[in-house]
Amino acid sequence: MKGIILAGGAGSRLYPLTLVASKQLQPVYDKPMVYYPLTTLIEGGIRELCLISTPHDLPRFRQLLGDGSRFGVSIEYREQAKPAGIAQAFLIAESFIGKDSVTLILGDNIFYGDDEFYRAFAEFKNGATIFGYHVHDPERYGVVEFDVKGRAVSIEEKPKHPKSNYAVPGLYIYDNEVVGITKNLKPSARGELEITDVNVVYLKQKKLRVQQLARGFAWLDAGTSSSLHDASAYVQTIETRQGIKIGCPEEAAFRNGFLSLKQLEEQISKMPNCEYRSYLAEEVVAEAKRLQK
Ligand code: G1P
Repeated sequence: MKGIILAGGAGSRLYPLTLVASKQLQPVYDKPMVYYPLTTLIEGGIRELCLISTPHDLPRFRQLLGDGSRFGVSIEYREQAKPAGIAQAFLIAESFIGKDSVTLILGDNIFYGDDEFYRAFAEFKNGATIFGYHVHDPERYGVVEFDVKGRAVSIEEKPKHPKSNYAVPGLYIYDNEVVGITKNLKPSARGELEITDVNVVYLKQKKLRVQQLARGFAWLDAGTSSSLHDASAYVQTIETRQGIKIGCPEEAAFRNGFLSLKQLEEQISKMPNCEYRSYLAEEVVAEAKRLQK
């Protein structure tokens, strides 16, 4: 399974913040936004990653994440010269995907929750797996409608009159057919290759699985000033209360066996003295050593 992080877009909704750095590099409480989707892919067991961004912003992502070895993964970079829809990612990254299946995550989506979510990655075989999450403002999103048996019957992109309250979060798992399906898509009225149209093709072929995310699960998008603030507040609340970190790729890599204890300690030794370093050293490493005894 390959993983794509789509971190493009003009970020116009966050102007003037985006004059300083692109949306996905903005802080969400104590880390850059892109750390959260990166961590989600690592937690999902994906080691081969590709980050797509604008020619203007790509160098900053490269500087931040490098070749991925710090997190026990490999990261390639591809340019999205002009934003032409989320599904365009599959065309841009075609050679990266090769013959594999692929998970696409949007760079401003934050997921935090239970193991069942991560099982969707491990159990994926073919077709497509997407998610449904109850929200109060479904018209802002792709919306999935379920029948009485919980099967998806329709998906619409930002409908004026949503048929349900279930939004489709920006994390999509596809088999290799997705590349061919995207090549046959026609741009929508707004001139984009819509991810919703990809999902509709899988739905029509009866190859779409829509997993409802549990009530206790958190899905946040951080694409507007107020949702960015809400995401920061949420992360701060959980981290302070529990003494853990959300969206810490080094920790996820270690827990998934992508980094050994020794490699994690090497990474920590390169960090300046800060809370992030203390967390990794005094919580994650110390606990691992205690358990080894
Ligand atoms: C995009 C997708 C939409 C999805 C959302 C999740 O919307 O088009 O289907 O529900 O991401 O964040 P956009 O971010 O372009 O508004």
